[in-house]
Amino acid sequence: MTDLSPPEHYPSTGHSADPVLAAGYPEHADAVRLYGPAIAEDPGTLYQQLRRQGSVVPVLLDGDLPAWFVLGYREVHHITANPQWFGRDCRRWNIYDRLPADWPLMPYVGWTPSVMYAEGGEHQRRAGAIGDALDAVNRIDLIATCEQVADRLIDAFAGDGRADLITQYAYQIPARIVARLYGLPDGDISALVQDVFDSLDVGDNAVTAHQRLHARMAQLVADRHARPGPDVPSVLLAHPARLSDDEIVIDLLVMMAAAQAPTSNWIGNTLRLMLVDDEFSVTLQGGRSSAAQALNEVLWKDTPTQNFIGRWAVQDCNLGGRRIRKGDLLVLGFSAANTDPNVQPGTHGDSSTNRAHMSFGHGEHGCPFPAPELAEIIARTAVEVLLDRLPDVTLAVAAKDLRWRPSLWMRGLFGLPVVFTPTLPLVPAAAGRRGA
Ligand code: HEM
Repeated sequence: MTDLSPPEHYPSTGHSADPVLAAGYPEHADAVRLYGPAIAEDPGTLYQQLRRQGSVVPVLLDGDLPAWFVLGYREVHHITANPQWFGRDCRRWNIYDRLPADWPLMPYVGWTPSVMYAEGGEHQRRAGAIGDALDAVNRIDLIATCEQVADRLIDAFAGDGRADLITQYAYQIPARIVARLYGLPDGDISALVQDVFDSLDVGDNAVTAHQRLHARMAQLVADRHARPGPDVPSVLLAHPARLSDDEIVIDLLVMMAAAQAPTSNWIGNTLRLMLVDDEFSVTLQGGRSSAAQALNEVLWKDTPTQNFIGRWAVQDCNLGGRRIRKGDLLVLGFSAANTDPNVQPGTHGDSSTNRAHMSFGHGEHGCPFPAPELAEIIARTAVEVLLDRLPDVTLAVAAKDLRWRPSLWMRGLFGLPVVFTPTLPLVPAAAGRRGA
């Protein structure tokens, strides 16, 4: 018999703290709080325990705000494949007017006129242009750019014999590459990358960093009007979708943010897997296929975007045996869906080549074609160049001492300290050895 009691060890409540909310969400009595210091320590066990309640489970987000957590692969697929029933415009949330301005999850639900919250034909216009602009990126040039960026970062610590591969490497890569795809001059990139970090952080600098980024993108769009180049903003400006400058500016910001956190954690989580897991470290010397396998394995087991907010019910409906009301929020449990035993009983099968995971979302609002392909080029090149440059790299601490950031949204490490035989930086003339 299915155990429908709330999972042990996880804090549940009598109800949402707000009596008005509690009255509107009767199924959320005893809902598990999906926040708090302990909850993100071991997400795998959390999902396992929540799954005992079903594939769609009532939860309370920060501040005890009610939502549905979708853990089933089939349900996540159904929601993402049917945008006409599960919308993306966060203003559909039936408690939208009750959200405190400083709600910690505001970055996921603060409406902006970007591609992210557009729906229907308007979304297709915006997402289609983004897809075309990204598809115009020459893949061979992208590999060369990734190699240059990776080599320069490694040069900065190659002589030290030790490094933190998260802060000094993985986190530094995606925003630098996207800045190059936007055609920004090299001299502007460090300051821009710092602003990307600060704007994605919760610190006091976040707002001013975002304003500087916005101003930088607006300037970039104005420059490309005057002098188009072989870059993403110029393709967007010339696109038949006839995007306005404001639309392009905001979508350039969305793409930069959407690339940075998941791709850097994908690189970091893959490097971790290759350093801690014998299966990969043995084949690591064997060459490039092992990096590709490790990258795919991570998308099944430690996917960067673990959970995602989300979709909102367009009308009352039944889902996973629950009654969902119009305007209810559905949190997409990508990580839980990837490990759903109904889809893959007991094992992932050969997860190193199977790509049916939910890690890039799905459907109209999924990570837009060809962003996953470009992200894979960036991540694979980053991993391969590192192993190529530092072939004897090993962990500087025991694997059990590596610490995951306590987040239910992004899965990534605080740090990945490694040691290796110190090497000389690449001299500029040799930087072309991979065809850069
Ligand atoms: C070059 C790097 C990347 C770019 C430019 C990019 C861009 C984007 C954009 C623009 C969206 C919003 C799409 C929309 O609302 O229509 C999106 C969504 C998303 N992306 Fe990416 N992305 C990148 C890398 C990644 C990576 C590495 C992952 C995870 C492994 C990822 C996972 C997702 C997910 C889960 C969504 C939401 C999907 C959904 O709602 O169904 N992205 N991405």
